[in-house]
Amino acid sequence: MKTGERWIAIAIAGLVLFAVGKAIFSGHPTKKDEEVPFYSTADEATAKAAADLYRGLSCRDCHAIWGVKNVMQLVPAPSLDGIGSLRDEAWLYRYFSAENPQAILPSRLKKQYQHPSYANLPESQRKLLARYFASMKVKDWYLEETRKAEQQKLTGVDSK
Ligand code: HEC
Repeated sequence: MKTGERWIAIAIAGLVLFAVGKAIFSGHPTKKDEEVPFYSTADEATAKAAADLYRGLSCRDCHAIWGVKNVMQLVPAPSLDGIGSLRDEAWLYRYFSAENPQAILPSRLKKQYQHPSYANLPESQRKLLARYFASMKVKDWYLEETRKAEQQKLTGVDSK
């Protein structure tokens, strides 16, 4: 890519992110319009260790968390904000431990974009990821929107 094209790509990615962020955080009028619906119940040590792991394993090349992802990556993976209200810790642990995660959650994407297996990570790290993502909750008033957005990413079909 030429430098000019690269900046255009970055600008477009920025605009897309802005639009998505806007849709997530202020899209549909609710009585709690101003409030961010996502929160974590993890203690500080868990949150910090998990965030380091998340960064180290490049999860954010594909996923968004706290509305943020790597702008150069456009894999349509589900956002992990609020995922702990959709999946419990046992499910997450099984998913992160699976040799073939697509046997648990089928993918519509090409192999290189699919969620990788983390079966080779030490058990303590798989447990930490499961505990942390189970703690990523969404407030009740935004649960349906979060579920719809997740289904849209998983199936590619917009149900709205
Ligand atoms: C190469 C891109 C990629 C990377 C890297 C990646 N994922 Fe995924 N992940 C996906 C995709 C795409 C899906 C949806 C299922 C599929 O298509 O395989 C998914 C699904 C998930 C799900 C289930 C979401 C749901 O809707 O139930 C969780 C949880 C998850 N990933 C967490 C992580 C964590 C934590 C990491 C880092 C340790 C990570 N992912 C790394 C692409 C990725």
